[in-house]
Amino acid sequence: MSEPQEAPLSLYHLLDPEVLANPYPLYRRLREESPVHWDPYLHAWVVTRYPDVVEVLHHFHADRTPSPERLEQLGMGEITPIAALMVDQMLFLDPPKHGRVRRLASVAFTPRRVAVLREHIATIAAALVEDLVGAESFDVMEAIANPLPAIVTAEMLGVPTSDHELLKGWSQDFAEMLGNFQHNPGRARKTLQTVAEMTAYFHEAVARQASHPTEGLVNALATAEVDGDRLSEHEVVANVIVTMIGGQETTTNLIGNGLLSLLRHPGELRKLREQPALIGPAVEELLRYESPSQHTARIAPPGAVLGDTPIPEGAAVIAVMGAANRDPERFEDPDLLDVGRADNRHLAFGWAAHFCFGAPLARLEGQLALSTLLGRFKELSLASDDVRWRPNLGLRGLTELRVAAR
Ligand code: HEM
Repeated sequence: MSEPQEAPLSLYHLLDPEVLANPYPLYRRLREESPVHWDPYLHAWVVTRYPDVVEVLHHFHADRTPSPERLEQLGMGEITPIAALMVDQMLFLDPPKHGRVRRLASVAFTPRRVAVLREHIATIAAALVEDLVGAESFDVMEAIANPLPAIVTAEMLGVPTSDHELLKGWSQDFAEMLGNFQHNPGRARKTLQTVAEMTAYFHEAVARQASHPTEGLVNALATAEVDGDRLSEHEVVANVIVTMIGGQETTTNLIGNGLLSLLRHPGELRKLREQPALIGPAVEELLRYESPSQHTARIAPPGAVLGDTPIPEGAAVIAVMGAANRDPERFEDPDLLDVGRADNRHLAFGWAAHFCFGAPLARLEGQLALSTLLGRFKELSLASDDVRWRPNLGLRGLTELRVAAR
């Protein structure tokens, strides 16, 4: 009988729940054995080293969603409403279109606005945590990691916070498509319904601004003007939606993964409890260590070379930030969690032109959620070692995180 063959190297192994629970050995193999890897299953190049991920994020094209016309040609016309939304979102635009949308959006998302939100986040986090006092154990995802970013997102957009569960449902549903490589025709119907509902909701929110202007991103995007240039209503809605989704799933993952990492490293948790001022660098380390968004994709420009490997023009490239953030050539002892780590220029928020638009807000939410929890409960521990990872290959997060509290 022939020896069983080792499965070929592929990012698709993330479909195996054991690999998903701990993808770092797979990432190490990729970095060491084939850092610029042609993945025959994904039909894409996969890069895992820090400098290659930076190069891809810096210089490759972000325009990667198939146009509605292309989908029609491929016989996938049914899903064109999804593509029609994505082609106008800043995440998928190249210059000069990207710069235009990002500039107009930045006018809407000022440091003053983030400072106002800070107060609200602290109040919301305190209220959510206060509700848990007296419980012997609770699920951190349900109690804080899901609702906090959803309520903050509603505030940020300027829509009623009582709608936060609606926003969360849409965001969770859309994220299942965004974070996974595998096309799941069974989910397409649900995603189409989500796209129709949230598009209608935000068109209404834009229309309401004329009679009842509310401070927030919807209003700011609808009225933002730079040198006489304004966004169309479709562009406003598309970019409100990308911000609504970008702001929720990842921040939920930061809070859940962050607390899990601390509970798995009691020495680091103790250090943070003793020195609460470490919360800033600690959140950066938690972002590096268990990155909420593990990878993203780009398209190769003409003449691209990664390492020594020429990449054909138009090829899809997957940049694995989660692997680059554990690259030993860039980070000393990368598999060690060190809440006081210096020189921590991780890639969890991406790099260059598409660097996360909401990073200041995400940092605040992560810092306030964790410090409020640690401040209110003198003892927190994992109620079970069996934590549940959501079945999403790109958005790394937990479905449940049950902790015992005192
Ligand atoms: C811990 C939380 C977060 C993480 C880890 C995260 C991660 C990322 C990453 C990796 C990118 C770049 C993707 C790429 O280059 O392909 C990105 C872009 C983006 N993020 Fe975040 N994000 C977080 C929170 C937020 C929040 C709170 C908001 C909303 C206020 C937000 C809105 C966006 C938007 C709109 C973009 C697109 C920027 C552009 O294309 O120019 N994100 N984020």
